[in-house]
Amino acid sequence: MVVLQTYYKSLDAPSMPTNYLEGTIWMQNIILLICESDSTDETQFLNNPEKMPWLEYPSEHSDYSSQASPRFFVSHLTPALMPPGLKDKKAKIVYVARNPKDVAVSFFHFSHVLTKVGTPKHFEEFLQQYLAGDVYGSLWFDHIREWHTHRDEYNILFLTYEDMIMDLRSAVEKTSRFLGRDLDEAAISRVVEKATFKNMRKDPKANYEFLPTEILQGKFMRKGTVGDWKNTFTVAQNEMFDRIYQEKMKDLPLKFIWDIN
Ligand code: A3P
Repeated sequence: MVVLQTYYKSLDAPSMPTNYLEGTIWMQNIILLICESDSTDETQFLNNPEKMPWLEYPSEHSDYSSQASPRFFVSHLTPALMPPGLKDKKAKIVYVARNPKDVAVSFFHFSHVLTKVGTPKHFEEFLQQYLAGDVYGSLWFDHIREWHTHRDEYNILFLTYEDMIMDLRSAVEKTSRFLGRDLDEAAISRVVEKATFKNMRKDPKANYEFLPTEILQGKFMRKGTVGDWKNTFTVAQNEMFDRIYQEKMKDLPLKFIWDIN
């Protein structure tokens, strides 16, 4: 997942499929809460994607050239599909990665609420497709590899979903510092409070329940935990996944947290 704060006058917004590393709408909300924290008018925009549009889903809000700085966008795209100008490092990128077992389970459920994404009925079938990259958004392993390999070419903050779950305050502080926003303790506390799963789920600007029912049927925000994959994966699926994970990730210095209980 990538969220960018950008100061560019224009962007080539590619219209491409997305990847699905997770925590996207969470970080989208956190960045907007941080950047709006000094504002008294909380109703400036109707919902988060109106203020921080999706790069790959152009909408009436995607005219970056007419927006005042700082400009934001959110994306699941890989570096190859990003506007090349981001490499001059003026724009800031926050990348959130989540352990790929929880991603698989979350994405399986998400596919049922997102009506445009065709999903197999059974998790086993979905898992095979997911591991082959034969799903909406292609392969998790490719996405993280590309961003991690090219990270030095961008001004980028890497966070994990698991770290955010374990210490949301620290994630908000890091993000705020990275964005150059000097929030005091009270302002940080307000952002943290609004960004908790419980509160964000009730926030009509942030929870994506504003999407029309032709697109979304159900709750986008499901459980918001680490280790939920254990309730879905069989032992055999887990062993197979671990083998593939070891092979694909062996040369990347990344460690994920698979469970916090
Ligand atoms: P679950 O399906 O495991 O609950 P994305 O926005 O990239 O599609 O990621 C969706 C996942 O992020 C969902 O995971 C959703 O519940 C979780 N999420 C969104 N906001 C969250 C929050 N404030 N706290 C914890 N998890 C959150």
